[in-house]
Amino acid sequence: MPTINEILNTMEYGPAPESQKEAQAWLEGRGRTFGLFIDNAWTDAGELFASTNPADGKPLAELTQATSDDVDRAVSAARRAQPAWAALGGHGRARILYAIARLMQKHARLFAVLETLDNGKTIRETRDADLPLVARHFYHHAGWAQLLDEEFPNHRPVGVVGQIVPWNFPLLMLSWKIAPALAAGNTVVFKPAEFTPLTALLFAEICVQAGVPAGVVNIVTGDGRTGEAIVNHPGIDKLAFTGSTEVGRLIRQATAGTGKKLSLELGGKSPYIVFEDADIDAAIEGLVDSIWFNQGQVCCAGSRLLVQESVEERFLKKLKTRMDNLRLGSPLDKSMDIGALVDPIQRQRIHGLVEAARAEGCEIYQPAACELPADGSWFPPTLIMGASTSAAVAQAEIFGPVLVAMSFRTPAEAVQLANNTVYGLAACVWSENISLALDVAPQIKAGVVWINTANQFDAAVGFGGYKESGYGREGGREGLVEYLVPVSEDARPALPAVVKAAAKGAAPSGDPFAIDRTAKLYIGGKQARPDGAYSRAVHGADGSFLAEVGEGSRKDIRNAVEAAHKAGGWTKATAHNRAQVLYYIAENLAARGREFADRIAAQTGTREAEKEVQASIERLFYWAAWADKYDGAAHQPPMHGIAVALNEAVGVIGIVCPNENPLLGFVSLVAPAIAVGNRVVAVPSEAYPLSVTDLYQVFDTSDLPGGVVNIVTGSADELARTLATHSEIDAVWRHDGSLEGCAEVERLSAGSLKRTWTGGAKGRDWFSTQQSAGRTVLQHATQVKNIWIPYGV
Ligand code: NAI
Repeated sequence: MPTINEILNTMEYGPAPESQKEAQAWLEGRGRTFGLFIDNAWTDAGELFASTNPADGKPLAELTQATSDDVDRAVSAARRAQPAWAALGGHGRARILYAIARLMQKHARLFAVLETLDNGKTIRETRDADLPLVARHFYHHAGWAQLLDEEFPNHRPVGVVGQIVPWNFPLLMLSWKIAPALAAGNTVVFKPAEFTPLTALLFAEICVQAGVPAGVVNIVTGDGRTGEAIVNHPGIDKLAFTGSTEVGRLIRQATAGTGKKLSLELGGKSPYIVFEDADIDAAIEGLVDSIWFNQGQVCCAGSRLLVQESVEERFLKKLKTRMDNLRLGSPLDKSMDIGALVDPIQRQRIHGLVEAARAEGCEIYQPAACELPADGSWFPPTLIMGASTSAAVAQAEIFGPVLVAMSFRTPAEAVQLANNTVYGLAACVWSENISLALDVAPQIKAGVVWINTANQFDAAVGFGGYKESGYGREGGREGLVEYLVPVSEDARPALPAVVKAAAKGAAPSGDPFAIDRTAKLYIGGKQARPDGAYSRAVHGADGSFLAEVGEGSRKDIRNAVEAAHKAGGWTKATAHNRAQVLYYIAENLAARGREFADRIAAQTGTREAEKEVQASIERLFYWAAWADKYDGAAHQPPMHGIAVALNEAVGVIGIVCPNENPLLGFVSLVAPAIAVGNRVVAVPSEAYPLSVTDLYQVFDTSDLPGGVVNIVTGSADELARTLATHSEIDAVWRHDGSLEGCAEVERLSAGSLKRTWTGGAKGRDWFSTQQSAGRTVLQHATQVKNIWIPYGV
């Protein structure tokens, strides 16, 4: 008797095509030629480029390549429209976003078919995944517009936002970008990818119908040159980009020092971890969704299968059987699993990577019966086995239907393999042992972890990466902050309140005890001589010699970073424990308050030294109080389960401290960083470093573990440069009022896509909690990880 699988294998599917009549009629109705959508009007078509159907290579329409002048017109329109759009108020904007959501639902089929024609992904996906999520995004953000004043008091919109998206989820990415921007009162200049611009242009028509005022949404088409014009336009206040890590880096470099707010959602190489006690059949189905959804052209695709050795053989056998049953063909056929790749360029790229793996001796499995259509760009579902962990296919984002399988023995090894990547976008963990799964999830360096599920998205749940997968979140409260600015930022003084650097006066005296007055560096909980054995003199406000401090170098920073990494226990310590240590530091500082006040006064000549010490003690109490209260959230997306948003430490943060208020400035930056579990390499005020070097004994007597705070004195410029280029540092903050220095940090951070927080040339009132404390600081000190946990399934 044949098995059920054998019977299924002999059954044939009939064709079930979705009609493309309406979509073709829509294109015909516009003469298959489009201008740009600026100020709610269509410009005449300019230099044209074609968009083709990836499934058959036939042209669909011709689009205008927007020039810098066009971008300039779009930015001007957005600028003109922005004040009135913000002034419309939350309810006014909510009504319009709601109208967009309704219209998207009403025209869902037209959008779905047009998306499938333009992108090559199956109608099953555009109809059942993309469009419902798009509508949900606009509904959800209509709600945020309504609640904005109540939930985000003392915030304002950023202004004019430039938004650039890729071709893999054209309309979904549009909704992720435009809905929160509009909800928060911004206006936008949006650029779809050159391969897939059509649904954005249909969306422009929806905006008009929904009553979006002129200039609020502007859509310009074109390739990377148009993207560059948006990035470089001085009238843009914020950039939101989704796409390749390579272009993300270019954008970080191009925007360095401009003050433009930036969020980057970049590539990934996400692990898909299957433990031996997983529900194997469910894990196989999840894997199909994870790596063959949208032909694997998904930034968070589970492209690295890590399966526990004890079940590897069984798992791979079942997987191959499942692969044999995947149906590849016309994307408009409702029963197809796999559609076409977006462009022949992608096919060539994927082919190259797979063939390189074959040449290296990897085993490649592709279903024998998978026939590729003659026209268009296609690639069969592919499984690669036997690749080394450093092989190109194991490290590079393939962005195609290609899975690389590896095995592990222990949970620790699974975590180590999972984190063996420059990326950190997403991960899946499959185990019926929830204790194991929840133990592993926080150890994975990724912005999203799906437990016993895959590729879940929702408008209420933040999405975004760690490491080279970028920064910023999209979705929910976490995403909305990207489109807002605290008004306290506007209140910052135009310049730092430092009168002048200490005058260089008398040289060190011939006093034989002068050596005792040389403050060393503080690395790994110990005082350390600078590697270069150089020191610099610190002079008081009256020009007199006060002491010498070590001249830190690149080598000292390296030692400090190593010490910070060894102090990983701090991140795992309880928040209660961290709070206790901060209180203890405050207490010990208070005991020596007079001495610290004298030292500040001697260095800076201020009359407010006592006040600064008291404010520093209070600030330590403040951050101790926060340590166990920055809780995260339990989101409730429309599924049977929860998504837990954890505020995790960023890792190791390099901090260049301000010259204004040398003690309070240091405390205001270092204390929040360590309160939430980061380890720090701090460069104290270059002009007035002694207030910080005096803290060593305070730290030593306060149970602060060695390596949590490391202090390297010396040239702010030189040390900041080393921090920004160090690959083992996760974030750099610079607040010493140096415009060029901050720009340099941002530019250099692009190498490993570190997060940055820079103050620019403006000052900051370090006594004010509005300007120098609060949730904004905590957002810089943490990154959100969303762990999806379905239950009862
Ligand atoms: P891309 O990053 O070049 O394109 C994404 C968007 O950026 C497009 O709208 C493009 O026109 C624009 N763009 C290109 N150069 C720009 C520049 N210098 N300044 C501003 N905007 C610019 O991605 P591409 O070339 O389409 O795909 C190449 C590879 O990137 C893929 O094979 C994949 O590995 C990766 N990728 C990753 C995505 C993700 O979501 N993580 C999305 C798309 C691509």
